Amino acid sequence: MAPMVVALILGWWLVAASRAQQLPRPSLSLHPIQRVSLGDNVALRCHLPRLAAWVWLYQERGWSYNKGKEKEQDAAEFSFVSTQREHAGRYRCQYRVSWSVGASEKSDPVELVLTDHSYSPPSISIHPEQCVEMGTNITIRCWNKDYGAAFFLHKDGSSAPIKHQDSSGGGAAKFTFLAVTPADSGTYRCSYRSRGYPFVSSPLGDSVMLEVTPTAAPSGAVEQSCANLVMALVRGFVAALVFGLGVYFVIDARSLWIRRDDNCGAPPVTVRV
Ligand SMILES: *[C@@H]1O[C@H](CO)[C@@H](O)[C@H](O)[C@H]1NC(C)=O
Repeated sequence: MAPMVVALILGWWLVAASRAQQLPRPSLSLHPIQRVSLGDNVALRCHLPRLAAWVWLYQERGWSYNKGKEKEQDAAEFSFVSTQREHAGRYRCQYRVSWSVGASEKSDPVELVLTDHSYSPPSISIHPEQCVEMGTNITIRCWNKDYGAAFFLHKDGSSAPIKHQDSSGGGAAKFTFLAVTPADSGTYRCSYRSRGYPFVSSPLGDSVMLEVTPTAAPSGAVEQSCANLVMALVRGFVAALVFGLGVYFVIDARSLWIRRDDNCGAPPVTVRV
């Protein structure tokens, strides 16, 4: 009797498992895609390759949501109005066509990272310098005063962080780039996340710019690109100086004018505030 029960259970499980494998996986997407802050509205959309009757959204190590749906839709949307820390996390979705057929496999995970503007933005520095020759090793250091269990390095133009690292104690992390290439050129910023809420992020901090010059270029190219930077700074300074002088002369001319008026015995100008 017992072997028969085992065989029956095994058979049922095998049938259910094989049916589940026949259903193509759904995919999950986030709207808006990035930079969602605490309190913002956000939607997780489960895209269904087949018409489904029920759709589930699971938060890893958290709760699950389910939704019965209109048969003709090819996606199910789960909306969070005014997001809270607890909503931040890693999500997957799954669907079921009918109760007699097993559920689909789960989608690939999608991370909902929420920015908490009460975290102070981290600081950043770059070593040895921001204009380097190809092949140089550079280090970008991120730090903050208080918490910060994990630091993330972002590059402008990339939607996801390009590197991350647990802090080396003392709320700091070092990102090393061995033998940089011109492709590493760009603008970098840091963020950090606390241990308690690994999907709640600080805002992005200040940026550092990295400029990598190919060694194949005529020698002096690094100096040239850094010289360009210096020239731009000098031009800005001169422009500010000229403007300042202009303002000074205008004020000076005005005061001269007013003094001359006084000398001519004109009635003093009364300014009513
Ligand atoms: C870069 O770092 C690697 C590994 O630490 C080292 O072997 C190499 O000599 C360094 N290169 C330069 C140019 O400092």
